[in-house]
Amino acid sequence: MANCTDLYGNTLSTGSQAAAEAYNTGLHRLLAAQVDMVAPFEHAIALDSRFALAHVGLARALLNVNDGPGARKAIEQARSLVQGCTAREQSHVHALGLLVAGNSAEAYPAIRAHVDSYPRDAMVAQTCSSIFGLIGFSGLPGREAEMLAFNAGLLPHYGEDDWWCLSQYAFALCETGNLDKADQVIDRSLALNPDNANGAHIRAHIWYETGEARAGTDYLTDWLTGYGRSGVMHGHLSWHAALWALEQGDTARMWQIVDADVAPGAALGLPINVLTDTASILFRAEIAGERVAPERWRQVSAYASRFYPKCSNAFIDMHAALAHAMAGEAEPLREIIENPAGPAADLVPDVALACREIGAQNWAQAAHHLTRCMADHARIGGSRAQRDLLEHALLTCLLKQDRTDEARHLLALRRPILAQSAAWQQLPVQL
Ligand SMILES: [Fe+2]
Repeated sequence: MANCTDLYGNTLSTGSQAAAEAYNTGLHRLLAAQVDMVAPFEHAIALDSRFALAHVGLARALLNVNDGPGARKAIEQARSLVQGCTAREQSHVHALGLLVAGNSAEAYPAIRAHVDSYPRDAMVAQTCSSIFGLIGFSGLPGREAEMLAFNAGLLPHYGEDDWWCLSQYAFALCETGNLDKADQVIDRSLALNPDNANGAHIRAHIWYETGEARAGTDYLTDWLTGYGRSGVMHGHLSWHAALWALEQGDTARMWQIVDADVAPGAALGLPINVLTDTASILFRAEIAGERVAPERWRQVSAYASRFYPKCSNAFIDMHAALAHAMAGEAEPLREIIENPAGPAADLVPDVALACREIGAQNWAQAAHHLTRCMADHARIGGSRAQRDLLEHALLTCLLKQDRTDEARHLLALRRPILAQSAAWQQLPVQL
């Protein structure tokens, strides 16, 4: 058997050097969220159908194109082939098999144990390193700090020259407020691999947090010209660009981006992004004074009902509740209020009730419900930029009641960077 290894020096049980090379192409594309990440794993399997980890890679890639059944089938193939593979590969198949099967509760400890033993198995570590990962959606208090600890713990194993590890570390730094260091680390990562869509995304987040709308717009506009629309991050990066267009008062550009690359029927990305990004930009546009056609809200509400008829994840359910409330769809909203699910389910009813009251313009009641979940809304999941939806919502509720001083203090205490945003430019923060 040829001595084949993956990009990080881990042994691959395949006799085909060409299959290993195809696997590594797939791994690289997956870590960089590049377009066409399924084909290299399929090619690896075509060259060696008994290459267990190629089937796992295919499963992970298929999840990125929202093919859950295909991913589960691929994992079953991997399981049937793992006998005789190395201990690392057997553990890899087991841990990611649990994840692909949707068993997050058992997958998380299995993956953490695997990463402890094989920290340079990036395909597995990647499931915990980012905002939409197992730590990010754990619903646990302190999960932002845990993500930082996890990524910092990987650094000694990957060294100073690994673009993937550096990019993940930079995001964790950003989300814990270490913006200067995050800025340096992401620049280093992007210098090593400027084509990393995750890196471009993290670059955008850091500039969001530092209020660099102009630099962010210029960067993303340029970067997106080289990234195919089928790339898993395309829609979400477009959301970031649309946010900055709104911040700079260019609403024509904002709608252009939303209609071309963010909204249902336009974006090619994962449903979680299509739903949450569209609901978020519509709401932010509305509170910035832009008229949002009711049909837009009805479209997002229908999309949420189609892809997420039951609660599963507080971050998704928060945006679905907003869409249903703004569309006047009482029944799916009631479902979210009465049947929350997932690790942060305890926060969902108040968020959804707040959405209902916002939809009905009952600002005091909405503020009451929002206040009950503001203390630790990081548990809901998503990035700080995404959860600014809640900050904007509460500020809106206070201002609608002429509670201007409270809004001003809230802004100064919680998210002073938002004082620059289009919605609050008439509300200067006096620090
Ligand atoms: Fe983002």
